[in-house]
Amino acid sequence: MTIDPEDLRTAEQRLARLHERLGGIAYGGDYNPEQWPRKVWLEDAQLMQQAGVNLVTLAVFSWSRLETADGVFDFAWLDEVMDLMHAHGIGVDLATPDAVPPAWLIAQHPDILPELADGATFGFGSRQHFDVSHPVYREKSLALAEQMGERYSKHPALCMWHVGNEYGPVSYGRWADKAFREWLQRKYASLEELNQAWSADVWGQVYSDWSQVGAPAQPRTWSNPTRRLDFHRFTSASMLEHFKAERDILRRHTPDLPIVTNFMRFYKNNDYWAWAAEEDAAALDIYPDPRESDAHVAAALNFDLMRSLRNGQPWMVMEQATGAVSQWSVNVSKLPGKMRLGSYQAIAQGADSILFFQWRQAKGGTERYHSAMVGHAGPNTRIFREVCELGQELKTLGGMTGTRSTAKVAIVFDWDCWWALELGNSPRSDLNYAQEVLRFYRPLFDANITVDFVNTKSDLSAYSMVIMPASYLLTDEAAQRFEDHVSDGGRLLVSYLSGIVDESNTIRLGGYPGALRKVLGAWSEEMHPLAGEGEEVKLATADGGTGSASYWMEHLHADGAEVLASYASGRLSRSPAITRNTFGAGTALYISARVDDAFLESLLTFEREAAGIRPELAAPPGVQVRRRTGNGSSFLLVLNHNDGPARVDVRRGGTDRLTGRPLHGAVELEANGVLVLEEFPAEESVPGESER
Ligand code: GLA
Repeated sequence: MTIDPEDLRTAEQRLARLHERLGGIAYGGDYNPEQWPRKVWLEDAQLMQQAGVNLVTLAVFSWSRLETADGVFDFAWLDEVMDLMHAHGIGVDLATPDAVPPAWLIAQHPDILPELADGATFGFGSRQHFDVSHPVYREKSLALAEQMGERYSKHPALCMWHVGNEYGPVSYGRWADKAFREWLQRKYASLEELNQAWSADVWGQVYSDWSQVGAPAQPRTWSNPTRRLDFHRFTSASMLEHFKAERDILRRHTPDLPIVTNFMRFYKNNDYWAWAAEEDAAALDIYPDPRESDAHVAAALNFDLMRSLRNGQPWMVMEQATGAVSQWSVNVSKLPGKMRLGSYQAIAQGADSILFFQWRQAKGGTERYHSAMVGHAGPNTRIFREVCELGQELKTLGGMTGTRSTAKVAIVFDWDCWWALELGNSPRSDLNYAQEVLRFYRPLFDANITVDFVNTKSDLSAYSMVIMPASYLLTDEAAQRFEDHVSDGGRLLVSYLSGIVDESNTIRLGGYPGALRKVLGAWSEEMHPLAGEGEEVKLATADGGTGSASYWMEHLHADGAEVLASYASGRLSRSPAITRNTFGAGTALYISARVDDAFLESLLTFEREAAGIRPELAAPPGVQVRRRTGNGSSFLLVLNHNDGPARVDVRRGGTDRLTGRPLHGAVELEANGVLVLEEFPAEESVPGESER
């Protein structure tokens, strides 16, 4: 179906049009031709064709070559590269080079450089060296975006926009300070309201004039946690405001093209829920460490998060490495087959674009050792061959773009919870929110249960089971929504440190977890972190089972809930540890301790089976299975993350899209092997446990 350009009003339509133009999945990467002499450009374009590249990201770091002095622009070289790309049938994702304000601009306005909390200033010589609240930075970056929008809006190679690069620098300097104060004045109706919200009477921090309020620069000892929480909210919002200003400029020039920026894995500074809502697609930079044998699990979490940020809409791998990165102390290259496997993993989890950083490996500069599609040795290499093979394979996946996955389980991942939980001065200041979420995600990933992520404001009606790992901050409305989910028949699993504080980071009184006490039918009177490394307590379940807990426990009281497990050793021996409450038509489980992995897995398995949630397909350990449906098709993707072969039974059968052959029954996948099965229609297949 050809999309009428007049009808490209939604992000989904803009993306569909992008993939239509590209002929399917986007494949390519960052291309930095300004680092190379002209004679290399033609070779690049030809090699791109050979590799099946259909999209390159240009100009990410090109500000100093596009605006060579204040108001002096040189677009000639970029015109030439855009034309060259078009002549070779390659689309362009054009970036606005905001991440690198040039040396001349910094020389004119040194206070563009971000200031640290201790008053020190970052120097010039790297990137992301700007305070996004600086008026000249804003003016100059937006003016350049305007020029680029005007110049390239009609260029036939232009397919999409990439605003900035990995937004994230935080500044505590003069401009941030001023912008923070203005943000607070918009948020709080009066200074007294701010004093109340920040619990300013504690340690005598009451403000009597707005001019006294500012960014939380390095304090003598510990600083006010709500002020810092608000500063987190402000920094995310102020960067997003800049993104939106630039997006609006580009949108005016090209209403039909997708506009994105690139996100990072487990990135705390920006609330990606708020960000993704303003973009046409979530786009991720993902660099799993090849030294970690289970790196694909944390990657999977990030992929599912990206898929969830825009409600299941396909997302983009904006950057990944073909081999090694260069930022760690030891940079190990991906083994043969791993780059392909990781790419299919992203596709299985909803990505419609596979892009790399970068096309040609730099010969100088900071990232000269970061791998690329074409490495230092040139195209006659294992990596380039793998790049070409993948590029050709992806061309066979027509019909996949735009398809989606369905999940019945949701895990809460919320930036307000993250920020509030990790402010220190709490019973455990070493708690890592992302790791808490990962602990609950991993057993579901291992069992091939498709998981969506939600935030504390999300609609929960699509889910039969919702998990809250350390969902620390809940507004009254959010708490009510989770409660309603249970009374309407849902299953809720709540871990320790959920529902503890309100929007102002103030503890909810009357027993923890204040916001969820009613739905849980249980409350804690005291938190008891386990101090010692490896210190454990025993657990005994009501039905005679055993387990253990470490790191965290609570003095819990059942108040209507059934006790599923109690502490069987330690200072809380015989007190409840895990409870289940029937509330309305549903149930709410409270896990007040960090239980061991096997125990957690059995809890999750019991709960999801009781909710009727089954794996996509029965598969051996290390084999990941996902399903994407849409466009009248159902695609089953099976990924063998093991170093040896693995066997699955695809009872429904289908066409192997990578070979074109029909498949049915037992299939063996080699180590790192991938199966993309376009399933036969359900009515023609043999019914089995794997069918949903
Ligand atoms: C990030 C950046 C890229 C590059 C890669 C590789 O994702 O966006 O410019 O530096 O890391 O390190």
